[in-house]
Amino acid sequence: MKDAQPGAIYLKDYQAPDYWIDKTELSFDLGENETRVTARLQIRLNQDRHDRQLPPLVLHGNADMTLAEVKVDGVALSADQYTLTSETLTLPVSSDRFETEIVSVLAPQDNTSMEGLYKSGGMYCTQCEAEGFRRITWYLDRPDVMSLFTTRITADKAKYPVLLSNGNCIEQGDTGDGRHTMVWEDPFRKPAYLFALVAGNLAHVEDTFTTQSGRNVTLQIFTESHNITKCDHAMRSLKQSMRWDEEVYGREYDLDIFMIVAVDDFNMGAMENKGLNIFNSSCVLARPDTATDATFQRIEAIVAHEYFHNWSGNRVTCRDWFQLSLKEGFTVFRDSEFSADMNSRTVKRIEDVNHLRSAQFAEDAGPMAHPVRPSSFIEISNFYTLTVYEKGAEIVRMIHNLVGREGFRKGSDLYFERHDGQAVTCEDFVRAMEDANSIDLGQFMRWYTQAGTPVLDVTDSYDADNQRYVLEVTQSCPATPGQDVKEPFHIPLAIGLLSSEGDNLPIGDKGQTTVVLEVREASQQFVFENRIERPLPSLLRGFSAPVKLNYDYSRDDLLFLMRHDDDGFNRWDSCQRLATETILDLVRDIQAAKPLSLDTRLIEAWRELLEDETADKAMVAEMLTLPSEQWLSEQMAVIDVYAIHEAREFVRGELAKSLSEPLQSIYRGLAVEKPYKPESADIAERQLKNICLGYLMELDSPAMLSLAETQFQNATNMTDQMAALSCVINGAHQTAPGKAETLLSAFHDQWKGDANVMDMWLSVQVSGARMGSLERVKQLMEHPVFDYRNPNKLRSLIGVFCMRNLKCFHDLSGEGYAFLADNIIRLDKQNPQIAARMLTPLTRWRRYDDQRGALMKAALERIQANELSKDVFEVVNKSLA
Ligand code: BES
Ligand code: ZN
Repeated sequence: MKDAQPGAIYLKDYQAPDYWIDKTELSFDLGENETRVTARLQIRLNQDRHDRQLPPLVLHGNADMTLAEVKVDGVALSADQYTLTSETLTLPVSSDRFETEIVSVLAPQDNTSMEGLYKSGGMYCTQCEAEGFRRITWYLDRPDVMSLFTTRITADKAKYPVLLSNGNCIEQGDTGDGRHTMVWEDPFRKPAYLFALVAGNLAHVEDTFTTQSGRNVTLQIFTESHNITKCDHAMRSLKQSMRWDEEVYGREYDLDIFMIVAVDDFNMGAMENKGLNIFNSSCVLARPDTATDATFQRIEAIVAHEYFHNWSGNRVTCRDWFQLSLKEGFTVFRDSEFSADMNSRTVKRIEDVNHLRSAQFAEDAGPMAHPVRPSSFIEISNFYTLTVYEKGAEIVRMIHNLVGREGFRKGSDLYFERHDGQAVTCEDFVRAMEDANSIDLGQFMRWYTQAGTPVLDVTDSYDADNQRYVLEVTQSCPATPGQDVKEPFHIPLAIGLLSSEGDNLPIGDKGQTTVVLEVREASQQFVFENRIERPLPSLLRGFSAPVKLNYDYSRDDLLFLMRHDDDGFNRWDSCQRLATETILDLVRDIQAAKPLSLDTRLIEAWRELLEDETADKAMVAEMLTLPSEQWLSEQMAVIDVYAIHEAREFVRGELAKSLSEPLQSIYRGLAVEKPYKPESADIAERQLKNICLGYLMELDSPAMLSLAETQFQNATNMTDQMAALSCVINGAHQTAPGKAETLLSAFHDQWKGDANVMDMWLSVQVSGARMGSLERVKQLMEHPVFDYRNPNKLRSLIGVFCMRNLKCFHDLSGEGYAFLADNIIRLDKQNPQIAARMLTPLTRWRRYDDQRGALMKAALERIQANELSKDVFEVVNKSLA
């Protein structure tokens, strides 16, 4: 009984709730065929909204739940005394304080959506953000309703020896019939989306942490017992996060126990439930032989992220879901600063900006573009986006840069103190920053309300007679759905000026070489006096604002900045611009059927990078990585998938041929056996080594191929083993065509028992064009390791193929599009959230040539013709609008 046409919900319609829920007592009776949930709620009228009348109580629910019993103040209601629809339960009210008792019956074993209560492997678990709690019981499932929870769990003792929920365990015992019970009490008021329950046969590791005020906290990580050796890294990351939040934000953990549970079936990466975080196993389990450096670093970041939510999200939460970036943008900013402090700050910044510019900019330019604080949605799950997260974090970073580190700390202290225990808005966050620093961020608020990526066009002029240098900055922002005209943004533009000798000139009043210009007008001039020569500007240092910046650099300017800019981020960015322009030139040559030749300046720049023995290896590795096909696509008015792929491959081949010697010498220098440590210096060495190996594979030489094979066979860590496998799969070795298959099957035999490693085995085969045909994807869907019900498997195989293997997905036959449409239609019935997410590549149909555009549109229309979830309905309809 779905709505024929799901409607939108608007921020402007927000109203505080009619009732509050002071206490929530839950009791779960977990059974193989049915699970009974009894919810006793202490309810109180919201006097601020109603002083005399008592409106009926409208609780949220879901059609998959059966209502078994409703009592008000101990008296059972008959069916004619309440109103039940697929999404609500309406109860009559006759007093401003009362207690309800509602029994709902669920079938978690049949719940494939992974929202609410469901089973993963043999265990029960929950996912309640954003609106999953209403699949467990009828409730005021909105984040501004905060309640004290106690949870009683009863289950078979042999099958489910571990029973967990939020807070502290206050009671446990056997019930005599082979079942047992545990009762948990959470002393902090929380919205229902932070509720969690886990029941299963789980092993755990345990540690303790002493807080800065001297309290001891028990830390536990739970997994199935065969993965118990993979918890150390997450535990170390957790302790580092707890220490960091005390040192940098003065925030201490508030319960006596903090638990993490790893589950194999999870729609997202991880969830910050109070005191009981639930993690996708791929985001918590790691051992040197099973996880790559990238995974180790992701785990460190996600453990930190979810832990940091304890303050930015849980103690201070969101008033409504439009404010999602209040907790997510701020917490992403916090976790990225944590990672920067634990590893290399510049490299972390490069990675984050690269991700933002290639993926969030594309979102901002597409049909799903929305402000960091959206003003309407049909399905909130569709708004856990790069815009809310990554662009939201950039907004917080800009505030940080505007008020400075100490000013920011004053602002965050005020925010946490002022709003502890409350559900608040993005304005409340910004106001705390303003009040603590006596500044006005009124214009700055437009970053939350206007969608689209602002563009800065910068020109300069030099007046030799007056020794005056002038930067002229013009800002604009393209129209986005529902927003044709934009007001100017308040943009912090960090810049430096370089002399012709390559010196970074002092320009600030204290002799600093970087200053922040505050751009506020549509067009603005910045004047620099006493300049004895025309400088070369280094613009948007550290990517000080999430904008596109145009300045007419020559290729020689870019080479000069690569060598001399004292801003590490901009050295990398100049290198990226140089490579991007070079590749886009070749794209035009391909389109004009001209012979290809590579600008030798790129080769010489790469040679210089390779031969500089003093250079930071992590930086060299980042700079030697060519811009991705996604990023190059973003740069074209009409995306030419084949030409981009061919041009980029051509550049890789030419670089490999011209630089074969330095590449080999670096490779051999770094290919030395040493014990694995997931630390930044070692990670950088492995990364650089493996990038060199990747280039060397372009040479189609048996000697190079055997380097990779040897590395594969001798590897004692997954980073080196996976890199070698990937190099062979994606390499150009016509001389030994069967090698990739041989290594793939050896890898499969070695790791077939490890679900997370098998995810990587699926991805590596289909992420590149040389091996990853649609045929192979379809074959792998029949392979025993593939499981259509498991989100990680779907993402690793179908998601990676459609989002990363652009050449094959966008095959002119349209078969890739038809394949994706078939799967969206099938998946929508099973798991709407994942279906809607996987739809993203088709939504960009307007960016391609007419032929592809028409095929993609037809695939969307075919999906549209089905009875759809709200999730997929919203994305399909907005894409076609
Ligand atoms: N609160 C989210 C998890 C979530 C998102 C649950 C959407 C339900 C719906 C969590 O804090 C989060 O943001 N997780 C991220 C990882 C993080 C490091 C950005 C994720 O799961 O991808
Ligand atoms: Zn989060």
